[in-house]
Amino acid sequence: MKFVKTLALLSVAATALLAQDAAQLLEQKCGSCHIVSNPTIENVKHMKAPPMWGVARNLIRHFKDEKAFVDFVVDYALNPSENKIVLDRAAKERFGLMPSMKGVVTKEELEAIAKYMYNHY
Ligand code: HEC
Repeated sequence: MKFVKTLALLSVAATALLAQDAAQLLEQKCGSCHIVSNPTIENVKHMKAPPMWGVARNLIRHFKDEKAFVDFVVDYALNPSENKIVLDRAAKERFGLMPSMKGVVTKEELEAIAKYMYNHY
């Protein structure tokens, strides 16, 4: 019983993630490949994926609302696949297909990250 209660509390806490936490999650879970702040001459040289600013702007233009955007980002991060790519395919040619983030980030964390991306970029 106690365990179930703890789980319920945990999931409430996860969905209530603050924007600040989401920014940190984005940096921790995605920042090793995607530049999450401003691209500079220096960090662009070492990047392993398109900068997140570009990814987000592109997808915001493509999807009609926040929910569609969030659903796509959550799904793509867990199950990336070539036929789902919205971004310029050149990114895939240059960097390769994104590896799945399964086991690295939870669905709840991804939802917080995606909402933050939608509202921040
Ligand atoms: C190990 C490197 C790596 C990490 C870590 C990573 N990505 Fe990516 N990501 C890529 C690469 C490479 C691409 C471009 C190729 C592709 O689309 O698969 C990409 C592309 C994307 C796209 C664009 C898909 C499209 O069609 O426009 C989204 C969305 C995305 N990543 C989200 C995330 C999120 C969210 C995280 C953190 C939870 C993350 N990525 C972490 C490497 C990474």
